Amino acid sequence: MLAEARAVDTPAASFRSLLHRIGAMLAYEALRDAPQHDGAVVTPLESMPVKRLTLPITIVPILRAGLGLAQGMFDLLPEARMGHIGLFRNEQTLMPVTYYENLPRSIAAGPVLLVDPMLATGGSACEALRRLRVHGCKDVRFICLVAAPEGVAKLHEYDAAVPIYTAALDRELNEHGYILPGLGDAGDRLYGTG
Ligand code: PRP
Ligand code: URA
Repeated sequence: MLAEARAVDTPAASFRSLLHRIGAMLAYEALRDAPQHDGAVVTPLESMPVKRLTLPITIVPILRAGLGLAQGMFDLLPEARMGHIGLFRNEQTLMPVTYYENLPRSIAAGPVLLVDPMLATGGSACEALRRLRVHGCKDVRFICLVAAPEGVAKLHEYDAAVPIYTAALDRELNEHGYILPGLGDAGDRLYGTG
């Protein structure tokens, strides 16, 4: 699926669908050790003990491209909540510019999946993480599709405690801050802009 998403001739509709599907798989991986509690269900024959994910779980896509991966996670976890952080990268300075934030009030009460398909310089991820920390979030798991070594180093320099779940660790950034080999501009490919 990632190979299809990378291909330059994959149309936007297929790209969106691939990101939804990969997003669900990445969320599954990222929540392997999520807090659980004991419960019980009654089958048609008897009752039995079960494990249930402890809520709340909050999915926080970094707009815009994060929405593409986050939708698949929301489908997997319909009882999760979704917060939003709007950031774009200034194309000249490559610094993140924030334009929106809307997070659930009790976001710090459970794990937060911070979602963005691309971890390039790491500037956007660090700024989003800083905002989550301001809200008291301790259990933050960063999920992306493609990471550059530079972004991984920057995020872990900023906060070594944040686990990074990625479908691929690519080679490097080019002089414009794009990941090589990468998949191009994720937001443009999702929404047919650019
Ligand atoms: C892309 C991507 C990340 C950011 C990564 O977003 O979705 O948010 O760049 O780059 P960084 O690691 O160097 O900060 P973009 O700024 O293109 O905004 P968009 O999602 O609105 O297209
Ligand atoms: N943002 C993208 O969408 N793609 C990259 O390769 C780098 C930043």
